[in-house]
Amino acid sequence: MKALVYHGAGKKRWEEKAPPQLIEPTDAIVRIVKTTICGTDLHILKGDVPTVDEGRILGHEGIGIVEAVGGSVRHINVGDKVIISCITVCGSCHYCKRQLYSHCEDGGWILGHKIDGTQAEQVRIPYADNSLHPLPADVDEEAALMLSDILPTGLEIGVINGKVQPGHIIALVGAGPVGLSTLLASQFYSPAHIIMIDTDDNRLHVAQQLGADTIINPTRQNVVDVIQKLTNGIGVDVAMECVGIPATFKVCQDIIAAGGYIANIGVHGKAVELHLEELWIKNITITTGLVNTSSTPMLLKSVQSGKISPEKLVTHRYPLSQIETAYDVFSHAAQEKALKIVLTAE
Ligand SMILES: NC(=O)c1ccc[n+]([C@@H]2O[C@H](COP(=O)([O-])OP(=O)(O)OC[C@H]3O[C@@H](n4cnc5c(N)ncnc54)[C@H](O)[C@@H]3O)[C@@H](O)[C@H]2O)c1
Ligand SMILES: [Zn+2]
Ligand SMILES: [Zn+2]
Repeated sequence: MKALVYHGAGKKRWEEKAPPQLIEPTDAIVRIVKTTICGTDLHILKGDVPTVDEGRILGHEGIGIVEAVGGSVRHINVGDKVIISCITVCGSCHYCKRQLYSHCEDGGWILGHKIDGTQAEQVRIPYADNSLHPLPADVDEEAALMLSDILPTGLEIGVINGKVQPGHIIALVGAGPVGLSTLLASQFYSPAHIIMIDTDDNRLHVAQQLGADTIINPTRQNVVDVIQKLTNGIGVDVAMECVGIPATFKVCQDIIAAGGYIANIGVHGKAVELHLEELWIKNITITTGLVNTSSTPMLLKSVQSGKISPEKLVTHRYPLSQIETAYDVFSHAAQEKALKIVLTAE
């Protein structure tokens, strides 16, 4: 089969690999129908994730058709169409028993990281019963693909951790696929006013179409001034960091109201400055986390009933064999006006 293989920082190739085999009785083999590229894949290619070995097939998002299952798989059958979760769940370790699946002792984020991933014609999925979600025939495949990673991330690590409530004024810093997914998920809770902050005007425009009430471009506007004016000097109830750099974490600290929540989603490669000397007296809560994907079944029902339409995040489509071109486009997202790129197997 063909797969997108990592060959060290800056190097990747679409090349021939041996097809995956069942190893454990809890495994399934899935033929990929659609996959996509995540910002995290770009972090890996930059060399920011040293736990990825050379020769690894990348990718942790996808939908596909089950081709084989091990002897102890009970609820997933050959021929099922499935969503592949970016988090592998054994279901019985210390962390899984606390529903902290992202820290599963024999799983967590391993796909396209510690084991071969989904940017391939076929993939082996460990603990198939817990790590695959059967996809009803009437659910749009592109919408379902957004449930592998970004939509559960926005809901769990942004909206739920940040305790968004009806009537809240909330701010999202970063309008990438993750920030925009968080924007979609926040609307389950009817916030009164949604503010989106990004340096990319195209992404701000998309945010507006998806429900942002106010957009702020910090290259032209003073974020703190705009938000102070908008909130009568109080600040926002929830600030969600969806970038992963010190500057955007600082913005969250600057705009949060007393009693507010700062929910960090971004993956940080550098230390940030924590202004505890200002935050302590304001009763601020700061939350962090790696997605558990425990919300995927609920999100799937919301997509099926039309309550949420994450397929709106798809901007580009290519055949799977043109994945190298897709990476080029995705790594120049601003110039290319790219959000999510869908790759479909021929
Ligand atoms: N916690 C988790 O479980 C989890 C899961 C998936 C992704 N992530 C992380 O979420 C983050 C966002 O992912 P993405 O795919 O949307 O990334 P992305 O790079 O596409 O989006 C980041 C956005 O931030 C904007 N930005 C950059 N600097 C800015 C600044 N100074 N002020 C305002 N906006 C600025 C960019 O224009 C871009 O639109 C990444 O760090 C990613 O690794 C975390
Ligand atoms: Zn991801
Ligand atoms: Zn586990």
